[in-house]
Amino acid sequence: MDKKKLIAGNWKMNGGLTANEALMRAILQGIGAPACDVAVCVPAPYLAQVQALTAGSPVALGAQDVSAHAQGAYTGEQSAAMLGDFDVRYAIVGHSERRQYHGESDETVAAKATAALTQGMTPIACVGETLAQREAGETEAVVKRQLAAIIHANGRCISEMVVAYEPVWAIGTGKTATPEQAQAVHAVLRTQLRHAVGARADLVRILYGGSMNAGNAAQLLAQEDIDGGLIGGAALKAADFLQIIAAAH
Ligand code: PGA
Repeated sequence: MDKKKLIAGNWKMNGGLTANEALMRAILQGIGAPACDVAVCVPAPYLAQVQALTAGSPVALGAQDVSAHAQGAYTGEQSAAMLGDFDVRYAIVGHSERRQYHGESDETVAAKATAALTQGMTPIACVGETLAQREAGETEAVVKRQLAAIIHANGRCISEMVVAYEPVWAIGTGKTATPEQAQAVHAVLRTQLRHAVGARADLVRILYGGSMNAGNAAQLLAQEDIDGGLIGGAALKAADFLQIIAAAH
C-alpha cells in the first residue's frame, strides 16, 4: 500500500526554551524535502514556541495528550480546540506512560481519540503489551483489546487516525522489537482494522515505537505493515532524528 510514512518525535517531558530552539533549528537545517511526513510532539508549554519555529516548514506540530472533554472544570487538561489554536495537527493518545502513571483506561483513550478527531486533529493512538504480558503469551489479546476500544468509538473515522504499536518493554530501554516481532504485531492490527473497516484499513498508518534509532530504523521501516515511527529518545538528537527521517521513504 502506497502511503507516505510518518516519523513523529515524542519529546516527552524534556527540553526547555533554549534546547528546543537549538534542536528545531538543527532539524530544520538538515531536513530538506523529506519523503515522509514529519511531526514533533512537544510539551504543552512549548507549543507556541515550536509552532513559531516550524511555521512554513515540513515539520508538523503535535501534542502528547489531549483532553476527552471539550471545556470546563478539568484542571490541568488541554482541549483539542485549545491545541488547535496552536496549529496542532497530531495528538498522541494512550501512550503507555499515560496508561501506567495516569490510570488511563481503554475507554478514556478512545474518548480522547474522538475529541481529537472532532477537532480535525489526527490522533496517534498507542497500543502495546508489557514484558509480563508478552511472556505470558498475551501480546495479541492485549493490543487487540486496546485497539478494539478505539475502533468501537471511532470506526467511521479510522482511516483519519494513526495507530502506534509500542511494546512497553521496548520504550526507553534500548531493547527494540526485532523487525519480525514488530511486523507480526502490526499484521495483527492491520487484520483487525480490515475486519472493522475493510479496504480503508490500508490507509491507516501503523507506526512502530520503542527504542527506534538511527541504526535500526531502516530495517523496521522496511517491513510491510510498518508505516512510520514514534520516536522518543532519538528524537531529542537532531542528527539521529534526521537519519530516521531519511530512512523513511
Ligand atoms: P523511545 O520512546 O524511542 O525512547 O523508546 C518511544 C515512545 O515512548 O514513544
